[in-house]
Amino acid sequence: MNMIRSIIKGTGHYVPENVVTNEDLSKIMTTSDEWITERTGIKERRHRKERNDAQETTSYLGLKASEMALENAGLTAKDLDFIIFATLSPDYFFPGCGVQIQEALGCDTIGALDVRNQCSGFIYALSVANAFIKSGTYKNILVVGAEVHSFGLDFSDEGRGVSVIFGDGAGAVILSKASDHEKGDVLAFNMHSEGKHAEELSTKFPGSKFGWSDRMRLEPEAVTNAEIYPNMNGNFVFKHAVTRFPESMLEALESAGKTLEDLDLFIPHQANLRIAQFVQKKLGLKDDQVFNNIQKYGNTTAASIPLAFSEAVSEGKAKRGDLVLLTAFGSGFTWGSVLLVY
Ligand code: UT7
Repeated sequence: MNMIRSIIKGTGHYVPENVVTNEDLSKIMTTSDEWITERTGIKERRHRKERNDAQETTSYLGLKASEMALENAGLTAKDLDFIIFATLSPDYFFPGCGVQIQEALGCDTIGALDVRNQCSGFIYALSVANAFIKSGTYKNILVVGAEVHSFGLDFSDEGRGVSVIFGDGAGAVILSKASDHEKGDVLAFNMHSEGKHAEELSTKFPGSKFGWSDRMRLEPEAVTNAEIYPNMNGNFVFKHAVTRFPESMLEALESAGKTLEDLDLFIPHQANLRIAQFVQKKLGLKDDQVFNNIQKYGNTTAASIPLAFSEAVSEGKAKRGDLVLLTAFGSGFTWGSVLLVY
């Protein structure tokens, strides 16, 4: 039996100051607070102040969340052994954001891995971190989820089905090897994928499959045709989400010998409040067993779970010793869960 336990030693989050309400969006496209609230539960989201702001980048948001997580963990950047950064909106097309954080935090020349699993990116990242801790390879791993969506959405009427949903934000945790007096542990995880649905929620450009000449990553026509923006078959994604969420949740609970009644807190990926409510109802979870904050931040993709986790900790809704279930579903399709004692 593996005696090493991995605990969430610290949590942190950060969002840009600029609040964009549904009312604000209705001034730049044909939409309404009523439509957005009814379909998604979202009332407002954060966008960095200027869409082309070179300061408030994805790694910057991740950095601020990481600094809070380190402080809460009582650790410094020099204590970190590894960085895992989940995002679909990196500062550069390449390299990834992990190396930006390594530099900005002033870490030693530790490894920095980027995970590209969109909405379930943080679940994948945390699962990888857990494996490194459990194998005895590393002691303290920074796991970050961060996104700047506002620079890459179509705010015309054509893009309104997607652009009203997504927001900017970041969350981070420090996953550490537990000492004897610390209780927590990651009890179970699962990760799944179904690549045949890749184009149901995707951004084509810049992608090697979609260039028309053999030279350019990003053709001018891609911009003209709005193919640089995310494209989502909303109904299709919704139907798969409400099936995969419960499957993955029950799989995680079962593999740890736990039941839904044992759960203190379920933190779903904040995709759409209606998805979270559907899943809650289907599984019979009580209101105080579920944490949602999509109303304030929209869907922040890889950031949504660590952002919600960190807020739940700050608000006293996730307490030490609680059994917490994190589950995500999204583009890929990819989905999965992490079940842990906080
Ligand atoms: O995080 C990764 C995973 N993502 C998800 O889980 C998202 C899953 N999908 C969804 O959450 C929902 O499908 C949406 C919220 C995206 C859309 O809701 P929907 O009920 O599926 O709406 P729809 O796309 O079927 O559109 C219904 C109508 C359409 O008009 P017509 O064709 O009925 O005349 C749209 O053009 O609503 C229109 N519409 C809008 N109207 C006002 C689409 N977007 C908007 C908008 N404001 N922002």
